[in-house]
Amino acid sequence: MGDLHGRRIVLGVTGGIAAYKAIEVCRRLVDAGAHVAPVLTKGALRFVGAATFDALASEPVQTSLWDEAHPIPHTRLGQGADVVVVCPATARLLADYRTGRSGDLLTATLLATRAPVVVCPAMHTEMWEQPAVQENVQVLAARGIEVVGPEEGRLAGGDVGAGRLADPDAVVAAVEQVLAGGRRDLEGRTVLVTAGGTREPICPVRYVGNRSSGKQGHALAAEAAARGAKVHCVTTVPEGAPTVPGVDVVTVETAAEMASAVARLAPAADYVFMAAAVADFRPVEVADQKLKKADGPPEIQLEPTVDILAELGRRRSPGQVVVGFAAETSDVRQNAAAKLAAKGADLIVANDVAAPGVGFGHDTNAVVLLDADGGEREVDLGSKRQVARAVLDAAVELRHRHGAGECVDP
Ligand code: CTP
Repeated sequence: MGDLHGRRIVLGVTGGIAAYKAIEVCRRLVDAGAHVAPVLTKGALRFVGAATFDALASEPVQTSLWDEAHPIPHTRLGQGADVVVVCPATARLLADYRTGRSGDLLTATLLATRAPVVVCPAMHTEMWEQPAVQENVQVLAARGIEVVGPEEGRLAGGDVGAGRLADPDAVVAAVEQVLAGGRRDLEGRTVLVTAGGTREPICPVRYVGNRSSGKQGHALAAEAAARGAKVHCVTTVPEGAPTVPGVDVVTVETAAEMASAVARLAPAADYVFMAAAVADFRPVEVADQKLKKADGPPEIQLEPTVDILAELGRRRSPGQVVVGFAAETSDVRQNAAAKLAAKGADLIVANDVAAPGVGFGHDTNAVVLLDADGGEREVDLGSKRQVARAVLDAAVELRHRHGAGECVDP
């Protein structure tokens, strides 16, 4: 669940070869919990089949002003939308939208909405570079329409140049950002997030590990990137890490590897979020062959790992905000307050992992935020993305309070 959960999205698809990529965009939006109503133009239907969108989207495909039971489908779609996304947007669509022509269901819907609109142009380089097309795009952008792409790359027919549809990741990220109100309060900031549980090897096959899924850390990384930050996400679960522009994923396995990645990246970070569940102990010796059952139960001697958060607390760079996490099963506030002090963090995000729907592996979380100035805030059960938003809000506010703040957009 991201902040797309429950959001109503009209996905307009126009007639370009890139229409096939809109299928992936549709699937991702639906996977993220959005309600997607697809509107295909006649041209789009020449490139992709309505049946594909029927199967993937939340509503049947609509293609015409005249064939729905509802007499005025464009107002139903336009008024009910939280956002309208046109992907791909052809030169014709851009021209029609710019001049307010409503020749079909999609253009009528664009005129009938007050929701934010995202357009993703895709066409051949010659068309894209036409002054008329460029002017249409500029006018739309000046009206507040979010224009995503196009990118440079290989085009239909083997040509290479500007005009390729933006990557589906970038389209989904733009939709999220538009829905988040376009807040860019982390623009120009560098954020370091750790995520997942470390694995401390016993032998080539077995390890000492924990149940962290990395989801809360990954949600923080995605939210920070959506708010404009350059994000380094040091994770043990790279397959779950966000694949959005602005997030650099660093894969690690052990506490020692995580510690060295953090030591390398932290000095330049404005914010560090230690969301990872770092093993406190690791086997002193790692067998180089698989331990065999016939040899009997192994005696595994453990030694402490480095406490990465405590190190950060000791060596933070000026103005840096250091945020720790505390997964507890009892006395949540007391334990978290003790960790806040012992580790020298600015903020601790504490959760009771024994509570229903909270913590390891869940898509939801509920936390208490304790800061070093004595502030305390409860964040009710919500998606991990919503919790990430509240954690970032608190961290940005702390940075301000400590006099190193950025300009916060309203
Ligand atoms: N942490 C860390 N390095 C470690 C252990 C923990 O950086 N070797 C960080 C975690 O990333 C988290 C915070 O410290 O942000 C608290 O982790 P937690 O496991 O809850 O606390 P511990 O210090 O390990 O204490 P305990 O296990 O006794 O609760």
